[in-house]
Amino acid sequence: MPHFYRLLLFLGVFAIATNADSIPILDEPHSKDNSNSCDCYITSGPDAGYFQYHRFFDFRNISSFSGDYYLNTPANVTANQDQSTQNATSGYLQSTEFTNDWSMQSWSRNVSSVPSVSLVNSLQNIYVMRNRTTNSTYLTFRTVRLENFMSSSEMESMQKNVLHASFRIRLRIIPSDFNYDTPESNTATSVDAGAVAGFFTFYDPDNESDIEILTKDPVNHIRYSNQPDVDRNTGNDIPGASTDVEFPPGKAYTEWIDHRLDWFPDISRYWIDDQLLHNKTYGVPTKPSSLTINLWGDGGEWSGNMTVGGQVLMGIEWIEMVFNTSGPVTGPPGATTSKRHHKQDTGCKTVCTIDDVANVGFPEVVSVSNSTSAAARFPRIGGGGSSTAVVVVSALIGAVVMVLL
Ligand SMILES: *[C@@H]1O[C@H](CO)[C@@H](O)[C@H](O)[C@H]1NC(C)=O
Ligand SMILES: *[C@@H]1O[C@H](CO)[C@@H](O)[C@H](O)[C@H]1NC(C)=O
Ligand SMILES: *[C@@H]1O[C@H](CO)[C@@H](O)[C@H](O)[C@H]1NC(C)=O
Ligand SMILES: *[C@@H]1O[C@H](CO)[C@@H](O)[C@H](O)[C@H]1NC(C)=O
Ligand SMILES: *[C@@H]1O[C@H](CO)[C@@H](O)[C@H](O)[C@H]1NC(C)=O
Ligand SMILES: *[C@@H]1O[C@H](CO)[C@@H](O)[C@H](O)[C@H]1NC(C)=O
Ligand SMILES: *[C@@H]1O[C@H](CO)[C@@H](O)[C@H](O)[C@H]1NC(C)=O
Ligand SMILES: *[C@@H]1O[C@H](CO)[C@@H](O)[C@H](O)[C@H]1NC(C)=O
Ligand SMILES: *[C@@H]1O[C@H](CO)[C@@H](O)[C@H](O)[C@H]1NC(C)=O
Ligand SMILES: *[C@@H]1O[C@H](CO)[C@@H](O)[C@H](O)[C@H]1NC(C)=O
Ligand SMILES: *[C@@H]1O[C@H](CO)[C@@H](O)[C@H](O)[C@H]1NC(C)=O
Repeated sequence: MPHFYRLLLFLGVFAIATNADSIPILDEPHSKDNSNSCDCYITSGPDAGYFQYHRFFDFRNISSFSGDYYLNTPANVTANQDQSTQNATSGYLQSTEFTNDWSMQSWSRNVSSVPSVSLVNSLQNIYVMRNRTTNSTYLTFRTVRLENFMSSSEMESMQKNVLHASFRIRLRIIPSDFNYDTPESNTATSVDAGAVAGFFTFYDPDNESDIEILTKDPVNHIRYSNQPDVDRNTGNDIPGASTDVEFPPGKAYTEWIDHRLDWFPDISRYWIDDQLLHNKTYGVPTKPSSLTINLWGDGGEWSGNMTVGGQVLMGIEWIEMVFNTSGPVTGPPGATTSKRHHKQDTGCKTVCTIDDVANVGFPEVVSVSNSTSAAARFPRIGGGGSSTAVVVVSALIGAVVMVLL
């Protein structure tokens, strides 16, 4: 190659390298992004927005890590394990592959008076199970009622600056009479009352959006709430803050379900298996938040009082999120700078979707544009925007209805 061309090539590479700070790429191997070619992500549903980041945490194929993969529930929690001193239960849960993104909790809340019992979060209650039939793995959360405390489980995302997102989690409450030896032909449905399975955004008790399964509820019910849901002065429920929603026919929280929470600037939307079940405009969080997943009980009014000796298990196959951030994408110590890199709002050339894709967790390109015009910066594609005509017609119908009322 003549020197001249080498020089050009060198200058070209140099130009790309020095420009790196303004190029929105997520190239950190553990970013769990699966989509280096995408600039932004749209979601199905009524909202036209798009998000800048994508993460997919897949717990279905982690048996390549050393450690314990349980075929049956591991050793029971004992009465003296009330100190939260237990270690993480598997090589995977101790590895940076997991701990870069999630932090398992070991805080406790002691209460001395009825009706509540102390809550002790313990790392021993989060473990990896392997499905004997498929060999596929899943994360399991456990909560157990002992005489003096409720041994519980919780994990929190390391990403603390999420500001608007669409979160998805595939989970099930595993019936207590589930037969792990014949998982494919199971008819078990028995669930101990007194536990809460939570999947929620959290900044503080006034900026929190919750999906919660209460095991005292029938298996086709779920609670959707934005906080605060109780008036702190009067102790009364705040209307519209917390809603008890019934699943469509045939769905039960004891089966695998894809749960979804959309957090847009003015509305929260709650879905299961691609069906929009509830919208909430009250208390939509306004602060940068993290994501928490937990399974707990405290004998109180919300969770109910589990019988001593009872327990509830929750399986999680994967968690997916598309989101924006309030600022630089912070990561834990040791994460590379690229993971912390904040995407500039340079518009969105390659628009991807995470819905209706061939492989869940792997976004697909829906359109590529070479323009940085406003149209490309704010794409309205795929179930996204309403056309002006639709908006006008809806407004007219709305006005007529108002007049009639
Ligand atoms: C996400 O951030 C981009 C870039 O700032 C913005 O255009 C988009 O509207 C945001 N999405 C939502 C749902 O707020
Ligand atoms: C599971 O992971 C192993 C090793 O990481 C890989 O070789 C295999 O293809 C994966 N299997 C599936 C079904 O994804
Ligand atoms: C946790 O691990 C540490 C270091 O390996 C060990 O010293 C300690 O005994 C373990 N704790 C429990 C409760 O097993
Ligand atoms: C909470 O109570 C347990 C006994 O149930 C005790 O062992 C533990 O030290 C207490 N923790 C705190 C933080 O007071
Ligand atoms: C909660 O359950 C425990 C044990 O099953 C029982 O002793 C206690 O009275 C119950 N508390 C309430 C408020 O029902
Ligand atoms: C599961 O793993 C076992 C042991 O490694 C193997 O014998 C079996 O064929 C695997 N089953 C499936 C469905 O992959
Ligand atoms: C294990 O896989 C079988 C076959 O797909 C399925 O029927 C069963 O429900 C799975 N086990 C669990 C705990 O989900
Ligand atoms: C939620 O909002 C969407 C669009 O605004 C609407 O089509 C849908 O009927 C609403 N769902 C419920 C349960 O109110
Ligand atoms: C969120 O936090 C801010 C600041 O503390 C507060 O003003 C606001 O009421 C909270 N809740 C919502 C829904 O914005
Ligand atoms: C663990 O506790 C459950 C529920 O109380 C019980 O059915 C099971 O036999 C116990 N397992 C062991 C190994 O003690
Ligand atoms: C942008 O794309 C159009 C249509 O594909 C093409 O004609 C045009 O040359 C492109 N512009 C640039 C600057 O690449």
